[in-house]
Amino acid sequence: MDEAVFECPKCGDLLDVVYDWSRASLPKTLKDFEAKWSEQADPLAFSGVWRFRELLPFAAREHVITVGEGRTILQRADRVAPFAGMDAGRLYLQYEGLNPSGSFKDNGMTAAFTHAHLVGAKRAACASTGNTSAAVALYSAVDGRVPAVVLVGSGKIAYGKLAQALDYGVKVLQVQGDFDVCMKRVKEVAKELKIYLMNSVNPFRLEGQKTIMYRILEGLGWDVPDWVVVPGGNLGNSSAFGKAFRELLDVGLIKRAPRLAVINAAGADTLYRLVNEEKVTWNGGKVDRAKVAAFYKQMEGENRRAHTLASAIEINRPVNLYKCLRALEWTRGVVEKVTDQEILDAKAQVGAGGFGCEPASAASVAGVRKLRAAGVIGKTDRVVCVLTGHALKDPHATVAYHTKKDGELAAEYGGYGVTSAAFANRPVAVADDLAKIVEAIQA
Ligand code: F0G
Repeated sequence: MDEAVFECPKCGDLLDVVYDWSRASLPKTLKDFEAKWSEQADPLAFSGVWRFRELLPFAAREHVITVGEGRTILQRADRVAPFAGMDAGRLYLQYEGLNPSGSFKDNGMTAAFTHAHLVGAKRAACASTGNTSAAVALYSAVDGRVPAVVLVGSGKIAYGKLAQALDYGVKVLQVQGDFDVCMKRVKEVAKELKIYLMNSVNPFRLEGQKTIMYRILEGLGWDVPDWVVVPGGNLGNSSAFGKAFRELLDVGLIKRAPRLAVINAAGADTLYRLVNEEKVTWNGGKVDRAKVAAFYKQMEGENRRAHTLASAIEINRPVNLYKCLRALEWTRGVVEKVTDQEILDAKAQVGAGGFGCEPASAASVAGVRKLRAAGVIGKTDRVVCVLTGHALKDPHATVAYHTKKDGELAAEYGGYGVTSAAFANRPVAVADDLAKIVEAIQA
């Protein structure tokens, strides 16, 4: 607890936060958490993360660094349901774009900054596809005690996210390479300079991200959905979600867990290939590591780099791979992949349903559509998609989809396999002329 060590000194694998629940003061039922709603003058009750602190009891109150994150809600999405092949009332969107930095990362970052404060860290660092860096920058700037440096792949992060990191005043290193390169380097840097690492290799990040699942249960009146669907990048979320449900089962606060569906972008599909093609499983902890190593060796040999418009999940070496396999086993989970075309079409439908999101987030809805078509998800199942990041994070993708004609779109995004915009909401060019404007409105 009082060290910032995130790798097992013996085997080099990731560490896990494990509680002795017999010593924790847990509520009798999940419904008891609702009492916190009446204590909102207390920042720890106001936060959508720390109002569940009995389920992540690793820090004393004086260490908690919070900006009121996690006040996000579960939205019933009847206008998006038909696109996903679901009946009305069966599709929900957990809108994490509503967080202070505009993505789910704040759930994890409040927990990691709290631990950083607890261990007296003097500096923080992360590698990022954009959202982690925005969240690190926000918490670093708000608290002031833990200055941060963020490593991003040059030209690899969406504009909104870069804007945030710059605006919040942290040091931004634009590394010549992609996320996988940045991740490798930031681990080396953290060791060399003894900097506190804010990526999801940090198990305290995942503790905070568990609370997204508690809020989903809360949004359903403490009922358990049939499916939770989440995009997979570094696989921190899926790992955290599995852990959340495993623990709730262990302490008897729920009776069954939902099934997890993790959705890869087709151009960054390591998890999909390992699980569905190589048949790698958690296997009660005995993962076939030789198979995974051989997979990565071949990937390296072919120089296969992640390539997707959903830049947030453009990752080929997910650091939480093993924890995610464990979560899949715990939840009878499945893995699917979707193309960038499917992602952008789903994104337009999510937007038209009133809840904008960035491309990576829309992979969840595209994934439901595909899993529904394959009969894996049933029409009347209750399904929750986690919308991980806000639409304003990546305005470029949105504007291109809605404004460019098919030929132009193919010229810009053809390399990603995006050639058409079936759900484009095209702006109408009109002269400064009342009659013409009226005509355009009535058309
Ligand atoms: N969705 C968004 C919007 C993200 O920013 C990320 C990850 C993911 C999904 C994938 O989540 O890693 O838990 O599987 N973004 C990281 C970053 C990698 O650096 O911002 P995951």
